[in-house]
Amino acid sequence: MGAALQGDLFATAAPALPPGIALLRGHFGPADSRGLLDDMADVLAAAPPYRLRLKSGAFMINRLTNCGALGWHSDEKGYRYIDRHPGTGAPWPPIPARLKQAAIAAAEACGVAGFDPDACLVNLYAADGRMNLHQDHDEADFGWPIVSFSFGNDGIFALGGGRRRDRVQPLALRHGDVLVMHGPGRMLFHGVKKIVPGTAPAAHPAIPPEGRLNLTFRRAA
Ligand code: SIN
Ligand code: MN
Repeated sequence: MGAALQGDLFATAAPALPPGIALLRGHFGPADSRGLLDDMADVLAAAPPYRLRLKSGAFMINRLTNCGALGWHSDEKGYRYIDRHPGTGAPWPPIPARLKQAAIAAAEACGVAGFDPDACLVNLYAADGRMNLHQDHDEADFGWPIVSFSFGNDGIFALGGGRRRDRVQPLALRHGDVLVMHGPGRMLFHGVKKIVPGTAPAAHPAIPPEGRLNLTFRRAA
């Protein structure tokens, strides 16, 4: 077997993922993606994305916003869920029905019944966006999954283990992909190493130009 063919095989092989991590590759086709992104554009208009202050006083590199009864936020008091946009003072807009239904269906496809997300964190990555390795632990009940939708350019997701120092596996998250972290996968460390400009199959006003949009649906309360 030639080296080129071997390389191709590795490139297309499904990555081996740890228990509790499910990747639904290309779950949303072009028309579904467009519809969900149209709904997201309404959310962005109602709840303008902003840059978050970390406890240290530094600003986070990505812009974010939320929809749902609760939204994830941070300032000098630390990370927490709050019920309104800190800039406009208005309650977060509701999670659009199509998006909420899609998140519930994706959870069901991964064997999780009864997921009822009350929070959707919207992360907007510019071409140079990234996210440090972290665990999602501000939610009330880790028995519920984190359901993530990716749109726009590929994000190289870094999937670690239960400890920060554990080995990290790179995993490309592409336009239309869904990732579900549940059960033994729920508390794994994860982050986003980088965005790969030029890989998005389609532009949309809800996706930062040359960037990536990620939505994570959570049960916060
Ligand atoms: C997150 O961990 O909140 C976002 C992950 C991603 O952008 O894929
Ligand atoms: Mn996270």
